[in-house]
Amino acid sequence: MWVTFMNDSIFHEPVEEIQGQLEELRVRIRHHEYLYYIKSQPEISDGEYDTLFRSLLDLETKFPKLVTPDSPTQRVGAPPLDQFTKVLHDRPMQSLDSALGSEEVRAFDKRVRRELEVESVQYTLEPKYDGLSVELVYEHGVFVRGATRGDGLTGEDITTNLRTIRSLPLHLMGCESFPARAVIRGEVYLRLENFQDLNRRLTERGEESFANPRNAAAGALRQLDSRVTATRPLAISCYDLMVSSEEILPTHYESVSALAVWGFPIPSPRRRCDSIEEAMLFHQELWESRDRLPFEIDGIVIKVDRYDWQRTLGEKSRSPRWALAFKFPARKEITRIRQIVVSVGRTGALTPIALLDPVEVGGVTISRATLHNADEVSRKDVRPGDTVKVERAGDVIPDIVERVPVPGETRSDPFVAPDHCPVCQSAVIREGPIFYCTGQTVCPAQLKGALEHFVSKGALNIEGLGKKTVAQLVDRALIKDLSDIYTLAKDQVLSLEGFADKSASQLLEAIACAKQVSFERFLFGLGIRHVGSHVARVLANHFGSLENLMAAKRESLAQIAEIGPEISSAVETFFTEPRNLAVLARMKEISVQVEEAEGKLDKTRKPLEGKNFVLTGGLDGFTRPEAKHRIEQLGGHVTSNVSEQTDYVVAGKDPGSKLNQAIRLGVKILSEDELVQCLHGDLA
Ligand code: IVH
Repeated sequence: MWVTFMNDSIFHEPVEEIQGQLEELRVRIRHHEYLYYIKSQPEISDGEYDTLFRSLLDLETKFPKLVTPDSPTQRVGAPPLDQFTKVLHDRPMQSLDSALGSEEVRAFDKRVRRELEVESVQYTLEPKYDGLSVELVYEHGVFVRGATRGDGLTGEDITTNLRTIRSLPLHLMGCESFPARAVIRGEVYLRLENFQDLNRRLTERGEESFANPRNAAAGALRQLDSRVTATRPLAISCYDLMVSSEEILPTHYESVSALAVWGFPIPSPRRRCDSIEEAMLFHQELWESRDRLPFEIDGIVIKVDRYDWQRTLGEKSRSPRWALAFKFPARKEITRIRQIVVSVGRTGALTPIALLDPVEVGGVTISRATLHNADEVSRKDVRPGDTVKVERAGDVIPDIVERVPVPGETRSDPFVAPDHCPVCQSAVIREGPIFYCTGQTVCPAQLKGALEHFVSKGALNIEGLGKKTVAQLVDRALIKDLSDIYTLAKDQVLSLEGFADKSASQLLEAIACAKQVSFERFLFGLGIRHVGSHVARVLANHFGSLENLMAAKRESLAQIAEIGPEISSAVETFFTEPRNLAVLARMKEISVQVEEAEGKLDKTRKPLEGKNFVLTGGLDGFTRPEAKHRIEQLGGHVTSNVSEQTDYVVAGKDPGSKLNQAIRLGVKILSEDELVQCLHGDLA
């Protein structure tokens, strides 16, 4: 067959050939998306992926009639809808009965065994994701429709929004074994780091932030404009194969394993066990590791594994009789605001903080919660003395969800943002929803923050200069701007708390060493707004020397890939501010050497090429994805399991079982400091 596809240019190509090319590209892209989003083991660089994706996009633009709904290009969102259409679920989407204590769980197991008339039952145990349940319909391996739970019988068609979820397969792998029609149920959620990131973006724009990741995920799923959903990196975990047109597997555990084979993200960790006591253990283990998980869970789900036994046990009107949610204690509590104070950050941003009557929330006592900015305080209308509901998500700073009105209460006056900095009394200016102290380095709060950042691991990396020492140096006026760090005298250091002769000499030696510093680290250390470690590297690569960068105008900065108008303007402003120029000039005078970037910053340099890394435990200076990104930029691979192929295991705070595996296999273990050295090419 020969076809003509476009009006203005005529293609005479065999459609089969084009279709073949399109299909080949789609299969390759799907494979790499699976490795990246589900396995976390990419085999190609982001750049190579982008090239593949662009080739597909170009070909589809030429042949729009050959675009299929399961193409990887169909994740970007479509024009907004007026409203969602209602859909009837294939089967009612039930909820779960829940238990809060172990007695209720044992009673459940007792009932199950009694009704089945058996001694022991196999259960599947899964985390209970705190998100929103959705129904996904696949026909011949292609995602055709997705819906919210709604009232359990009817939901809303959110197919286009669901398509934007990168880890949701649009076209299944291993289709030969896949049923002609399958209905799958899963939970859509937002990872904690993406939640924080989203809230940061929203508050910066003066929009209302979300109280928790679940609400944020719900907000994204309910968007009528799927292009907005596409900007919110939702994730999904699929835990149920509900209806299948073929014979289904005999157990839940095996069905979920089949989902994984077909390319679905599935609950992790999960376990199959022979007794309810193992469920107690799993609950305990997840409870303890909960704060280290990158997403929110609110308990575990216990499911009778055999489908025939599930059928025997049957269901109630809204929940099955063969499953139970064993919840964790709540993370929301009620307490009272004692006072609202304003803290001043490194950039001068003023953040209102609520000081609370201490309250235990999910096992941790909290006495402070962030109120983000002044607009947020008025929107929530919280005032000193008010009773409020506080919530804690993972390690995220606790948040005030809402005020709880108390009948007959007398309230204090509303909070008013200060017009002078509470630390240095300089004038306060407003930029969007954020108030800033104009004091810059005159403001001790800003100077402390700036100094902490300047000496931190990713910047000058001066050991022995912790938060407390920095505070003393600033409070005693031993440091008035960043350049003073290099001229500290021994008797000054000795006058600080916690220093003796040896530690003082060590600190001064570390400072002397840091007089010679790479351009990239120095630039990052200056703490220019929007210039994090990645941007600092891009700028250092591009300009090669501090002098070149200082001379750059915002127009030329904005030409550089990855440098937008906000960064350009922040950099230009920083290097035109006389106070900053004076500090830099003084540093030059006292022979601080900012190395030129050429050679060292050769973009093709891949010092970690062929090296496999595994990360375990929390890192101070990076988020996990950041660490992964930095390693991959230098050619290394980050995998999730320790094996003989692993070259390094990076052990952060509270490392998991991967550390033991590394020790067993004799794999080299790196501390976070050693990782930093490694990233700077300083480790053999
Ligand atoms: S099974 C018929 N498994 O919890 C049984 N649910 O409170 C269907 N959820 O509506 C549910 N993680 O949205 C199941 N691993 C998991 C889950 C899970 C989260 C949610 C789901 C359900 C709610 C019940």
